[in-house]
Amino acid sequence: MRAFVRGLPKAELHVHIEGTLEPELMFELAARNAVSVPFADVEEVRAAYRFDDLQSFLDIYYRGASVLVTERDFTDLMLAYLERAAADGVRHAEVFFDPQTHTERGIDIGTVIEGLAAGRAEGQRRWGITTGLILCFLRHLSGGAAVETLRDALAHGQHLLGVGLDSAEVGNPPERFAEAFDLARVEGLHVVAHAGEEGPPAYVTGALDALGVERIDHGVRAEEDPVLLDRLVRDQVPLTVCPLSNRCLQVFPDLRDHNLGRLLARGVKVTVNSDDPAYFGGYVVDNYLAVADALGLSRHDLTRLARNSLEAAFLDDDRRTALLTELDGYVAGVALDG
Ligand code: HPA
Ligand code: ZN
Repeated sequence: MRAFVRGLPKAELHVHIEGTLEPELMFELAARNAVSVPFADVEEVRAAYRFDDLQSFLDIYYRGASVLVTERDFTDLMLAYLERAAADGVRHAEVFFDPQTHTERGIDIGTVIEGLAAGRAEGQRRWGITTGLILCFLRHLSGGAAVETLRDALAHGQHLLGVGLDSAEVGNPPERFAEAFDLARVEGLHVVAHAGEEGPPAYVTGALDALGVERIDHGVRAEEDPVLLDRLVRDQVPLTVCPLSNRCLQVFPDLRDHNLGRLLARGVKVTVNSDDPAYFGGYVVDNYLAVADALGLSRHDLTRLARNSLEAAFLDDDRRTALLTELDGYVAGVALDG
C-alpha cells in the first residue's frame, strides 16, 4: 500500500514550513547561528513532542523556530521539506509560513520570504516539484498587525501565492482579519484560513463569509452544522485535513473515530496533508496510510483524495491538466481493487 500511495501524483496543500523543522536540522541551525535550544539532544526533543491540545504544541513550535535566522536557513529548511515531499510523490506543494513568528524576534520579512523563495526555485530545479508560498497571519495577534505584515510582505509580493490564518483558534474568530484579507484579495492573492480545527463550525462560516476564503484548513468540526456541511458540498469548498495532526492534538485522539471517511462519502472535497510533519510523526504518505488503515479506505478512496488535492490546488490550467492526466495514467496501470 505504501508504494501505491507514494506513486499517486498528489498536491500537499496544508504544511507549515516551520513545522517541517526536524530536530536534527534544529540542532544544526542552532550551532550555525549560536542560538541555544532548551534540549540536550534529538531524543529529548522528540520526547517533548507530546501534546494535549493546539496551544501546547504551539508553545514548543514557536520556540523551535528561533533557530531560523539567515536566508540560507530558510532555504535549507524549504529544501529539506521538498526533498521529502518529492520522495512522497508530491508534485505540487502550497507551503504556509508564519512571518510574524520571525519578525517579532527581529528577523526581516525579506530574509524569510527571499530565503524560502530561493528554496522553491532550487526544489523545482532538483525534483521538478512546483510550489507556492502562503503567508499566514497569527490569529492570536491583532488585525492591524496582520495588515501591517501584509503591507511589508508585498515588497516581495512576486513570491506570494496567497494568505492564510493560523495559530490559536479558540477565542480568535476570523472576522478580526477581514481588512487584511480584503487587501490580499485586492492584491490578487489567494485566500485560505484555518477554521473548525478546535474552534466551532461558526468559525468556518465566518471564514467563508467575512474573509471570502477559497479553502478551509482542517474544517473537520464543520460536520457539526448540517447547513454548513450542505454548503461545503454544494460549493465544493476544499478542506485540507491533517489526520496525524488531529490525533496528536487530540482533535480525534483515536484515528478510528476520524470523520474523514464520512466527509468523503458525503461528497465534501477533502484532501489529506501533513500540517507539521516534524512534530506529528509523519509526512503526507504517512497521513494517507494512517487514515487508510484506521478507516479501512480503499485504493479508490485514496485515489479520490489525491485527485481532490490536484483539483483543490491553486494551479494554472496547463499544470493541473498535466497532473490529472498523470494521475489517470498511474491508476490505469495499477489494480485499484487490490
Ligand atoms: N493550527 C493552527 N496553527 C498552526 C497549526 C495548526 O494546525 N500548525 C501550525 N500552526
Ligand atoms: Zn495547520
